[in-house]
Formats: sequence, C-alpha cells, structure tokens
Amino acid sequence: MKDSQDAYGHQLYDFFKGRPVVEVVERDDGLIDPSETLPKYYLSEYKDWNSREKIAARYVRGRVLDVGSGGGRWSLFLQKKGHDILGIDISPLAVKVCKERGLRNVMIRSISKVDPSLGKFDTILMMGNNFGLFGNPKHARRLLKRFHHTTNPRARIIAESLDIYKSPVDPVHRQYHLRNRRRGRMPARVRMRIRYLR
Ligand SMILES: C[S@@+](CC[C@H](N)C(=O)[O-])C[C@H]1O[C@@H](n2cnc3c(N)ncnc32)[C@H](O)[C@@H]1O
Repeated sequence: MKDSQDAYGHQLYDFFKGRPVVEVVERDDGLIDPSETLPKYYLSEYKDWNSREKIAARYVRGRVLDVGSGGGRWSLFLQKKGHDILGIDISPLAVKVCKERGLRNVMIRSISKVDPSLGKFDTILMMGNNFGLFGNPKHARRLLKRFHHTTNPRARIIAESLDIYKSPVDPVHRQYHLRNRRRGRMPARVRMRIRYLR
C-alpha cells in the first residue's frame, strides 16, 4: 500500500501523536459518515471496552494472531497478559503505531496472505468488526482454509460483527441493504473508504 493510500494509518498515527482527528467514512453510494469517537476507540484500554469485548477476551488462549490489529489495543492487552501474539495489518502506519506503543510482534500483511510461514496459532482474533474482512462467502471459504492450515487443533476464531437486523434501522442504511439485495449481494456488504486530509 502506498503512503498516499494509507488514510486510515495517517489518521490513526496523527491521533496517537495527540492531534485532533475526525474519522470520515465514505460509502460507495456517496454517504459520508464522520465520527470523532472512532480514533479514540482504536487506542482504547481494556477498562473502557464494552461488555461484549470483555467477554470475548475470556475466550482467548495460547498463541494469538490478531488480524487487522489497528492501533494494537487487543494485541497490547494480550501481550501484557503473557500471550505470544502476532499482529498483522495492511496499513503500514497502523503497524508503526503498534510498534511505537510497545507491541513486540507486528507486521504489515493482508489477511489474504495468512499462511503457515507465520507459525501455528491457538486463537485468531478479528475484532473491531473485522469479521467483515472476509468480504463475501467465496473469499471467506478461501480464507478459512488458510486459517485451518495456520492453526493448532481446537483453535478458536473470535470475530466481531454487527447484526444489521438488530441494530437500529436507519433508513439511509436500510436503502443501502435493499440496493445490495437487488444486486444479488449480501444485504450488509459495504464498500467504503476512509478519507483523511484531502
Ligand atoms: C476497524 S479497524 C479494527 C482494528 C482493531 N482490530 C480493533 O479492534 O481496534 C480495522 C483494521 O483492519 C485493517 N485492515 C483492513 N483491511 C485489511 C486486510 N485486508 N488485511 C489486514 N488488515 C486489514 C485496517 O488497516 C484496520 O487497522
């Protein structure tokens, strides 16, 4: 990824360095969704996590692969607890933030490049709605096969997602879900990008 493409990494790095940041998500239908809270969330401490995340943390065991580790909130928490953990992220600047925050094992790598060269894991983490990195059922099957070759027997995948049927139904989102259906896609599939500074 070129530095000019790493908008997420730039906003995360600037926030980490104490600069004011608003995350701007741009959906492919033109919806612009700004958030001041997200950058804070990416660097949040365990004490500030919601109850779902705290419950999920109880299921982590052994050697851990944190897929899309972001600012490293999960990896750093688990490193402190004594887990052997590897964070991977597609964003070079997110990886830099993790390193500067003290994460020992973290590298620039896409989920699609998870392979046995990373060693074997007992837990694969996909938090912060990173279940979405599976993309679509075909891609998910391919990735799950890769995970199978990269994990020990009885390993766990702990992934976070959003149930669009249970979350408040905002008409703007509902229209987007219907558009997906009309195009033969899963209703909650979202194509979006982060905009930052330009
Ligand atoms: C919503 S953030 C979640 C970060 C972290 N897991 C958390 O809970 O705070 C999503 C992260 O996934 C990373 N990411 C996006 N696409 C990826 C891919 N194909 N492979 C690996 N990481 C990816 C982004 O750079 C970002 O750091």
